[in-house]
Amino acid sequence: MTRLAVFPGSFDPMTNAHLDVARRASGLFDRLVIGVLHNPKKQPLFEIDERVELIRRCVGDLGDHVAVEAFEGLTVDFARRHGAAFIVRGLRAVSDFEAELQMALTNRKLAPEVDTAFLMTALEYGYVSSSLAKEVARFGGDVSAMVPTVVAGALAERLGARPRV
Ligand code: PNS
Repeated sequence: MTRLAVFPGSFDPMTNAHLDVARRASGLFDRLVIGVLHNPKKQPLFEIDERVELIRRCVGDLGDHVAVEAFEGLTVDFARRHGAAFIVRGLRAVSDFEAELQMALTNRKLAPEVDTAFLMTALEYGYVSSSLAKEVARFGGDVSAMVPTVVAGALAERLGARPRV
């Protein structure tokens, strides 16, 4: 049996917590497609193509069975298009759980054949989020513990590295 999974998210931008989940999932599934949501109603810091490219550079060492692509619309439709039986989501702390449970149950209602698999991030990334990394980078703080090196570079370029006082 081939186990296929999608790992959907906004990834604006990918953090070390996301990468940790992608790495764990890549060891569990025969094929993993990281889906980057293109939501025309949101104004992300990085355009959809930039987010996809950054993730590709971050997951390059995970193997050929890991792919990255943009998607629009429902996650369950994205999963079905790929014949995936699983949606992977990361949990950093208990505070993530309520919203994730609601999403997982909604997705189950829409597509009963697709299950959500939750993976815990490593303890050291429990506080990491894309929003926090953007805020720290915006004020010239060090984001090297929060995001992969290529993302830290992209953040500095986009937000301008300001000297710290
Ligand atoms: O990285 P995020 O922002 O926490 O990811 C949220 C995401 C993209 C997984 C979620 O918003 C989503 O699945 N959006 C697609 C629309 C959809 O399927 N909605 C119904 C399930 S909540």
